[in-house]
Amino acid sequence: MTYLTVYNDHEQPETLLETEDPAEIAATLKEIDVVLRHWQVVEDLAPDADQEEVLAAYRAEVDRVIAEEGYTFVDVARLHPDDGDDWPQRAAAARQKFLAEHTHDDDEVRYFVSGSGIFYLHVGGKVHAVLCEAGDLLSVPKNTTHWFDMGTRPAFTAIRFFHDDDGWVGDFTGSPIAGRIPDFDTIAATRAARAG
Ligand SMILES: [Fe+2]
Repeated sequence: MTYLTVYNDHEQPETLLETEDPAEIAATLKEIDVVLRHWQVVEDLAPDADQEEVLAAYRAEVDRVIAEEGYTFVDVARLHPDDGDDWPQRAAAARQKFLAEHTHDDDEVRYFVSGSGIFYLHVGGKVHAVLCEAGDLLSVPKNTTHWFDMGTRPAFTAIRFFHDDDGWVGDFTGSPIAGRIPDFDTIAATRAARAG
């Protein structure tokens, strides 16, 4: 289930909206040209499925998106806790990478196979924090100012779509806004408390 929180981008941000209602979320995101779709989750996919197995499980949906949007490169990004001594460092490094506000010159399109993460879309004086989970396909148009938080305990598998395979670079804006908005851990805790 997607969970959307909208804040203003003031020095002390206020919460303008919190919702799990799919129709309300889709309508709110449509206003900023962000498309959120949902695919039927493939339940019998092994947690440690490799890239080929993940793509095979969603072949029809992946091919449809490629055909409709002209993406030429698809891969699977995955990060799950392991027993390695270096896991905390790897997790922190991965989280840090796109935790500050940035843009890309390609769309950022992600389908969550499992786990979760929050895309923060900073548009029109508001920050839309979209907590995505399994089944969510989020399409963020190129040049949209945004950041991504996977939390302090990252766990997700996501299919990524690109128009080329030049590598994914972020153009960082230098804005400190990300530090003022509740992070993944905080929003996840708020949501859990709301759910009771
Ligand atoms: Fe990004």
